[in-house]
Amino acid sequence: MSSQADGSPALVGVGILGAGPVTQAIHLPSLARLGHLLEVRHIMDVDPLVAEAVASRVGANFSTSMEELLADPAVDVVAICSPHQFHAAQVIASCRAGKKAVLCEKPFAMSGEEAAGISAVSAETGVPIIVGAMHTFDPGWLGAEEAWGDLPGQVHTVRSSIVLPPNPRFEDFATEIVGRVPMQARDITDPEVMKAMMTGGVMGLAIHDLPLVRRFTPDFAAVEVLHAEIVAPFGYVISLRAGNVAIELRAAMNGTWEPSWEFEAIGDDAALKIDFTPSYVHAGSATARIRTAGKTTVLGPFGHNGYEGEWRKLAELASGRGTPPSAETLLHDLEFALAIAQAAAGRIEKGSIETGRNDSGPVNEEQEISA
Ligand SMILES: NC(=O)c1ccc[n+]([C@@H]2O[C@H](COP(=O)([O-])OP(=O)(O)OC[C@H]3O[C@@H](n4cnc5c(N)ncnc54)[C@H](O)[C@@H]3O)[C@@H](O)[C@H]2O)c1
Repeated sequence: MSSQADGSPALVGVGILGAGPVTQAIHLPSLARLGHLLEVRHIMDVDPLVAEAVASRVGANFSTSMEELLADPAVDVVAICSPHQFHAAQVIASCRAGKKAVLCEKPFAMSGEEAAGISAVSAETGVPIIVGAMHTFDPGWLGAEEAWGDLPGQVHTVRSSIVLPPNPRFEDFATEIVGRVPMQARDITDPEVMKAMMTGGVMGLAIHDLPLVRRFTPDFAAVEVLHAEIVAPFGYVISLRAGNVAIELRAAMNGTWEPSWEFEAIGDDAALKIDFTPSYVHAGSATARIRTAGKTTVLGPFGHNGYEGEWRKLAELASGRGTPPSAETLLHDLEFALAIAQAAAGRIEKGSIETGRNDSGPVNEEQEISA
């Protein structure tokens, strides 16, 4: 890559597949803060009105075909922000098109086979891939990782606890959404709908924290789900065991204020607690607290969050610097999530827990997976 007129490194050209609410309310605001590193050059969406409207906001080309975007020489890196069922094929095509790096929204695959296929293509082509489970890129988490010493070896309890309003509320705070797909009502007493909600909850929402959980569960392959319940209008309560570590995953998306997203890892002599900012919010990083007897170390909040962290990492990788997450890490993170999703869907208790004020309207399958 050549340099800019002032001698700073050339801008990395970004192409985005899928220009829905996540592109509009998460990625474009993040990229707007990183104009010294990255430039949006091509937006693709199967809906031509959405593609054109979103591209015009950032002065980019637009198209309705993935092939056209991948053939655009101005695109150095590709972000995949389409619905989850298209992710695996689009990641593979982006790697094969010889792009410099790929950012795929979570979940990057929906089966172990798809994940193994992606991992093989990344190894063959050498194209680095990162997954947009943003918490692993949050400076609050990264700071904690550097400071926690021997914590992972002594943790016995891990909790991920999420209370959020429905996505549209934060999307609308961030930007003016074009082309939002209306939600459809579903019968959440239907066992098949409940299973889909549980799978969607784990693969769409819990998945943000599961790579963090896995850092404290070396025996992650031995997952045993002890209890799983749906939370209405959308959420879950899952209790599980991985080796000797007890894990609680809780989420409720309802009309309640105030939002909260906490992650805790508790050991014999030390404990970590992280308060993350809610999804779609651009207000700095998480704050981590590491407590030992008589001492609390506070890390953060730092100036940017995990969304911006993902893009900084992608720019670094596209410029041939930095180390991408290993293919094994991506694969194991996904296998862990799939194992929990499958076991939890197979263990749902009768009925559902009602939490909070339900003014979030109906949910549909897309909403379930994309939370
Ligand atoms: N990181 C986060 O915090 C976060 C939050 C919510 C959702 N997500 C993830 O982001 C992704 C997008 O979410 P969203 O809410 O914008 O989804 P969405 O389904 O509302 O919108 C996706 C867009 O993709 C377009 N599309 C459909 N098929 C396509 C295809 N084959 N190729 C390209 N575009 C296509 C649609 O027209 C739509 O405009 C999902 O994978 C979701 O899981 C991430």
